[in-house]
Amino acid sequence: MCGIVGYIGKKEAYPIVLEGLKRLEYRGYDSAGIALYDGKNLKLSKTKGKVSDLEKKINQEIPTNGSVGIGHTRWATHGIPNDINSHPHYSNSGDLVIIHNGIIENYASIKKELEKRGYTFSSDTDTEVLINLIEDVKKNENLKLGKAVQIALNQVVGAYAIAVFDKNKPDEIVVAKLGSPLAIGVGDDEFFIASDATPFLEYTKKAIYLEDEEMAIVRLNKEIKIRKIKDDSLVDPYIQELQLNLEQIVKGGYDHFMLKEIHEQPEAIKDTYRGRLLVKEGLIRMAGIDDNLEKFLNANRIIVIACGTSWHAGLVAEYIFEDLARIPVEVEYASEFRYRNPVITEKDVVIAISQSGETADTLAAIKLAKSKGAFVFGLCNVVGSSIARETHAGAYTHAGPEIGVASTKAFTTQITVLTLIALKLAKVKGTISKPEFQHHLQELELIPGKVEKALLQDEHIKTVASIYKDAKNCLYLGRGFNFPVALEGALKLKEISYIHAEGYPAAEMKHGPIALIDEHMPVFVIATKKGHYEKVVSNIQEIKSRKGKIIGIVTEGDIDVKELADHVIEVPETLESLSPLLTTIPLQLLSYHIAVMLNRNVDQPRNLAKSVTVE
Ligand code: G6P
Repeated sequence: MCGIVGYIGKKEAYPIVLEGLKRLEYRGYDSAGIALYDGKNLKLSKTKGKVSDLEKKINQEIPTNGSVGIGHTRWATHGIPNDINSHPHYSNSGDLVIIHNGIIENYASIKKELEKRGYTFSSDTDTEVLINLIEDVKKNENLKLGKAVQIALNQVVGAYAIAVFDKNKPDEIVVAKLGSPLAIGVGDDEFFIASDATPFLEYTKKAIYLEDEEMAIVRLNKEIKIRKIKDDSLVDPYIQELQLNLEQIVKGGYDHFMLKEIHEQPEAIKDTYRGRLLVKEGLIRMAGIDDNLEKFLNANRIIVIACGTSWHAGLVAEYIFEDLARIPVEVEYASEFRYRNPVITEKDVVIAISQSGETADTLAAIKLAKSKGAFVFGLCNVVGSSIARETHAGAYTHAGPEIGVASTKAFTTQITVLTLIALKLAKVKGTISKPEFQHHLQELELIPGKVEKALLQDEHIKTVASIYKDAKNCLYLGRGFNFPVALEGALKLKEISYIHAEGYPAAEMKHGPIALIDEHMPVFVIATKKGHYEKVVSNIQEIKSRKGKIIGIVTEGDIDVKELADHVIEVPETLESLSPLLTTIPLQLLSYHIAVMLNRNVDQPRNLAKSVTVE
């Protein structure tokens, strides 16, 4: 988590760094800060709160001129979010300044050593320890900044993406990466540094993504030099041409990114299956699967590892893979998997799902699975992300940038890719008949249009939201393919409205949650026509007889649930295995409207971050 931005060149750094921080706020927004160098003085302003708070304060504190600048937006790990703990951090001499995304795990012992040597610390952060370690190495051994950074980093344990500036050597910035992402934008005699490429999109399309354990010195009028931190060997810079556009990362007339991303789902799903779903030819083409078909066909089981919403997409995949392709699937929280000595063999195929491709726990779980010989397939949205690079093969969701912290289009596009994979394997294995396969392809192709239709219920959903916005607790129920959608619906509400919500398999309700039901408890029940419909209707009866409020997510034309429920929200009919792609839409909109009505910060809910690069 945390976003870092830097600029060195001939332009004014402040507007570039400030705008860059706004684009990276999805990574954390507890505090923000900027350091600028104007050719003479190094100046710094930082504050608890969002980048907009910094923007209000900075002009009263420092002049914002200068053509070198670094900035930071923080998701607090060490030290509470306050002004002092905000980045950038100075070294004791005031000559060096650093921004850092990550955690230095052995900071306490280093701090003790430095204190013995007279260093003092004003913040509680691990980052201030790191910059003073760099200063100490630099002074003691009379080294240049780059070398001092390298030696210091070889002493630390943890994760970092850092940028360090020395006011006595103002034509360069030293950057390094291990575990947290770092992109360098290469312009004409100017460089940009950022956690992802969005801060420099309008200035250059040329980017270098540092690999783990690499550092670089970006120096004006010089070619960029990249080295391995451990053995000092030089690495040839690999400059990529960015495919991202500026239009993709602005709100485009919507009030919030989340709402924009909800409405982008029809197009995003199309982009996901474009070139892969070939209905006329009766084919699914996916290079990552085609090239590794034997691995999947010979697999004893598939293990899905993921976190958050991606984990919910994994749960949907469990139902789809087992139903269509008859391959046993286990779905694991990456954070649990990595620490519980799991039994993994070379006959296991692991599918790692991650929107950002940077989630620390998922990344660590992948490394563990690889070390045990499993074949690891990555399913990411962010192109070139760490997980995309760490896995043996993979597929992108092609959903476009997702900026709202609460995941929406990533979820539906992940399910789309997973459905394509399951169908492909089912066909090769012969666990699906030809007509059935073809029917699935046709239905999948119709999903974007049906999502569009589901989105037309927006006004009605807003009305339902206004009735339940003051609830203290909510229950979400679903069965089969739609049980994970119930979990995801509850997560969406929690994340952005701060209302407590729980998702449950509908039939499990009677083993506990039913005790909570009274006239104050809204229960959102997914009751699509083909999914254990009668059983779910019985569950609805049980809620009704305990006076719970029922909001049914039903198939168009439904009669039975309509009679029992307080409200229903219709979605178009489709195959049951594809229904999560539709039933999730009203639940996203409901959470969105409730959060807006409660004046929550929809795109940046408290305490959360989009990209969780710490464990
Ligand atoms: C964070 C985000 C969630 C996301 C989860 C996993 O908690 O707020 O929206 O689902 O991380 O992220 P990933 O990028 O790995 O899918």
